[in-house]
Amino acid sequence: MKKCMICKESIAPFISFGQMPIANGFLNPDQFDDEYFYQLQVGFCSNCSMVQLIETVDPAKMFHKEYAFFSSTSTRMGVHFKHLADLVMKDYIKEPDAFVVEIGSNDGITLQHFANAGLNHLGIEPSQNVAQVAMDKGIQTVCEFFDERLAMEILAEKGQVDVFLGTNVMCHIPDLHSVFAGIRRLLKPEGVLIFEDPYLGDIVKKISYDQIYDEHIFYFSVKSIAYLADCHGLEVVDVKPQDVHGGSMRYFIAHKGALNVSSAVAGQLAEEEELGLHLHGTYERLRHKIQLSRDSLMDVLHDLRRQKKCVAGYGATSKSTTVTNYCGITPDLVEYISDTTPIKQGKFSPGVHIPVCSYQKFKKKYPDYALLFAWNHAKEIMANENNFCRCGGKWLVYVPGVKVI
Ligand code: SAH
Ligand code: TMP
Ligand code: ZN
Repeated sequence: MKKCMICKESIAPFISFGQMPIANGFLNPDQFDDEYFYQLQVGFCSNCSMVQLIETVDPAKMFHKEYAFFSSTSTRMGVHFKHLADLVMKDYIKEPDAFVVEIGSNDGITLQHFANAGLNHLGIEPSQNVAQVAMDKGIQTVCEFFDERLAMEILAEKGQVDVFLGTNVMCHIPDLHSVFAGIRRLLKPEGVLIFEDPYLGDIVKKISYDQIYDEHIFYFSVKSIAYLADCHGLEVVDVKPQDVHGGSMRYFIAHKGALNVSSAVAGQLAEEEELGLHLHGTYERLRHKIQLSRDSLMDVLHDLRRQKKCVAGYGATSKSTTVTNYCGITPDLVEYISDTTPIKQGKFSPGVHIPVCSYQKFKKKYPDYALLFAWNHAKEIMANENNFCRCGGKWLVYVPGVKVI
């Protein structure tokens, strides 16, 4: 039996997606034979409410000098993080010598605003290639994995922190106790930890099972985060749902008793009870809905193949690795995936080995159907792709349900 990574109670998987490759592990044909696979299974802990992977992948296999995810590829996320930086500077930076630390700072998409404002800042980013982009922009960055040991080093060298940030990174870190212990030591008495990650409530509501992959070790709710914070003398003081990455939650956390607790926290906890996020049965039902979603997507793809239609994927996202491998979407069903990230182009998608091509290929000769793997950027993409629809192209989406648009 597997032990919960937060409270150590025994947990069992409620779903198994089978053998999975590394979600961001785009590869060349000479790497096909040694491709790494693990069992993608998810469990729910009825003691602390944390939803989590049963088997985790060594972080060094995912975050390294060829990490394929560059945050700044999405204009919409650029705007989102500019708003976050503005909010932090307005509400949480009280002194000109305030110190802001961000983990998973990637190419500097958020920290650049603090650097440009001349504020004391530090990014912690273990993937060398993306960290280098940030350093080239003049952003102070250390290329390491954050944990309690690194927190103590930062404390000794630079002192305590006013604001500690992390977007789409907390759920990536297996030893969250070490991270929270480190943050507790680093945070000033009135300091604040602000982080956001895909929200379990949205995954359950939208059946967005493609949020489940190796990098996402945990699927947070306010309840499970409150439990974790409490283990470290911290508490959730505010929560704010975010309309990005398919539905995220932003958590504001402080030392117990240091800041006022917003009524939004109790409100969100009540919503979670209503949705049944604390009940095992909810996840059994989710498994059933995921299986139905897979079956209907495959029915449509098989039907399009019978009609000899050309189907291309849009966005070689990390999420698409779960969909293609779980459903069995092979290059005979989806001919290629269009993606704007240079490091992915010319390579093949993990596991099912669909070629990843430049966006120019998509534009030059539109496919009949585009399977929208980057559904979380649907607004931005559909606004840019009017011409595809005018030329008769159709979108195939699968979240929240399988649909041709
Ligand atoms: N914050 C960015 C990037 C998210 S991707 C955004 O929201 O777009 C997750 C990032 O976290 C990757 O760049 C990865 O290298 C980094 N990361 C993974 N484990 C980490 C750890 N233990 N400490 C700090 N960063 C980590
Ligand atoms: P994400 O869902 O993890 O943010 O990844 C989005 C991927 O989709 C990334 O590889 C870039 C790609 N993409 C495009 O190819 N075209 C687009 O218009 C957008 C928004 C993303
Ligand atoms: Zn637990």
